[in-house]
Amino acid sequence: MAAKPPVLILLGPPGAGKGTQARMLEEDFGLVQLSTGDLLRAAVSAGTEAGKAAKAVMEAGQLVSDDIVLAILRDRMAQPDVAKGIILDGFPRTAGQAAALDALLAKAGQRVTAAVSLEVDDEAMIARVSGRYTCGGCGEGYHDEFKQPAKAGVCDKCGGTGFKRRADDNAETVRERLQAYHAQTAPLITHYECQSVLERVPAMGSIAGVRSMLAGIVGRVSA
Ligand code: AP5
Repeated sequence: MAAKPPVLILLGPPGAGKGTQARMLEEDFGLVQLSTGDLLRAAVSAGTEAGKAAKAVMEAGQLVSDDIVLAILRDRMAQPDVAKGIILDGFPRTAGQAAALDALLAKAGQRVTAAVSLEVDDEAMIARVSGRYTCGGCGEGYHDEFKQPAKAGVCDKCGGTGFKRRADDNAETVRERLQAYHAQTAPLITHYECQSVLERVPAMGSIAGVRSMLAGIVGRVSA
């Protein structure tokens, strides 16, 4: 019988490196990154009803309602590319989302393969998030100090020269996002510990160092 495609979850506060590492795992293992933050930002840009409802909540650093997030995620999970295996980046974030994910996977005869908690210090996350910017063409992520393009002003990946910063990447909103993480998302660490799928990764080291630890975990759990 063919093995089920892996379902990986990256847990961690804003700036922990979920997006950075999810994109690298896509490259390293051919998995598909599903970021609810990216899906919500696309809905905001497109001006959909969900996007209109989410915009102010996101700008305030609060969590968007489970109903909106689950509707967006279910649509994305219905796309054929998820059959390659997925990395959930920024989802689930509440007990309700975790229960809904468990139910959705159970219907397909699947379960979470591994939930990785990226363990970092809150204060350092404010500097990481405030210095972040992305390529407007391909979405590759950079940082003023920690990850600059090889040639200044030119994206390493697509050669684009337009970059953007997120509206919620300021120190005040990051503090709100950190509070939301500790109040509503950190308890999910216990949820996945109880399912015996939790992996803790110290993530204050270099991007390359964290990548290598994650590659070890993904290689082991997908074997
Ligand atoms: P979302 O887009 O998910 O943002 P977040 O969780 O706050 O996480 P970030 O994207 O800020 O951080 P990251 O961990 O991906 O870090 P990154 O790799 O970019 O959510 C935004 C908003 O949408 C939420 O506040 C909420 O309103 C809403 N939302 C989304 N999902 C939701 C859900 N499920 N339910 C309800 N609401 C939801 O790295 C950050 C920077 O640091 C980068 O510049 C990077 O280059 C650098 N960096 C990364 N790793 C390292 C390292 N090891 N060393 C040095 N620098 C590093």
